[in-house]
Amino acid sequence: MSPQNESLNALEESARRDLGAAVKADALEAWRVAYLGRRGRLTQVLRGLSELPLEERRAIGGAANRLKAELEALYQERRVALDEAHVQQVIGGAKLDVTLPGPPLPRGRLHIITQTLRDILRAFTDMGFQVVEGPEIEWDRYNFQALRIPPDHPARDMWDTLWIDYQRDGQRPMLLRTHTSPNQIRVMEQSQPPVRVVVPGRCYRFEATDPTHEWMMTQVEGLAIDEGISMTDLKGTLAEFARRIFGAERRVAFRCDYFPFVEPGMELRIDCFICGGEGCRTCARSGWIEILGAGMVHPEIIANVGYDAERYTGFAFGLGVERVAMLRHGVEDIRLFYQNDLRFLQQF
Ligand code: FA5
Repeated sequence: MSPQNESLNALEESARRDLGAAVKADALEAWRVAYLGRRGRLTQVLRGLSELPLEERRAIGGAANRLKAELEALYQERRVALDEAHVQQVIGGAKLDVTLPGPPLPRGRLHIITQTLRDILRAFTDMGFQVVEGPEIEWDRYNFQALRIPPDHPARDMWDTLWIDYQRDGQRPMLLRTHTSPNQIRVMEQSQPPVRVVVPGRCYRFEATDPTHEWMMTQVEGLAIDEGISMTDLKGTLAEFARRIFGAERRVAFRCDYFPFVEPGMELRIDCFICGGEGCRTCARSGWIEILGAGMVHPEIIANVGYDAERYTGFAFGLGVERVAMLRHGVEDIRLFYQNDLRFLQQF
């Protein structure tokens, strides 16, 4: 017998002996590495074959490959046996308490804007308002014209518009609504006074974003029409809303503003939660954050929907839900709401 054959026999003997002693998973792995691994003893023999003369290479190579297949089969057999023994130990030996609660499942939650919207709607429904909805894709007629904003009117610049690629009579009549105010018209066309509704919904604007401006945002429109409604009712309703949502200690301010569909028009501002009114980046150094536009519905609009404008007056407002959420939770940048970073959203 050649010295190579002799050493192959010795290798087999020692591999079998060592395998017999490998009764745990880590010992078995060490055995595999020692004999069959990249630098294992048998692998070395196989690598050394190329240096032998052809005759010997054939004889030793055949024997070494047989031994390799044999050792691999022994290894697999032992591994299966050890795995099985492990499973038996876990399910047989250990006591299983089936009354223990399972691992907790992660729970979903409502998005902070949905939570805020629900709180806002509750504040108004508690004051006697009804909730209705309108379409996000809107006609130019409702979004602008019926609100006293004809084509080419300079007030259109107040709402940078995302148009739908559809033309009629050379005009683009459809758009993504820029505000919820078209619903003032839709509601009045479909009902008779007294009217008292709030209309929540997504709005879209083709504008650059900054800490208080997003290109998609949520508004809540309010509309109340009846005999004898005055500016006092508007201010009282909005002050009560602010008290319910922000608490009595928050400072609110009404300021004149212009919207073509109200006369007079105004905006409601809340003191900035970051600087407390001193002026900072979030409030654009003004000390205040505007949350809504409002006013007395223009008599022309009341008459155009077929109501008696001598008899009925009313107020309307449109508020930004993201701005309310920012003020309530101290969120410095509106863009965080829709970036979908769970670390941010899970705080609420
Ligand atoms: C309007 O949209 C009017 N339709 C509001 C109105 C209704 C006035 C009824 C009179 C009567 P304005 O563009 O100011 O107005 O937006 C109203 C509110 O929406 C703002 O006060 C603000 O809270 C929110 N808002 C407006 N633009 C954005 C924006 N880009 N990102 C986030 N919130 C916004």
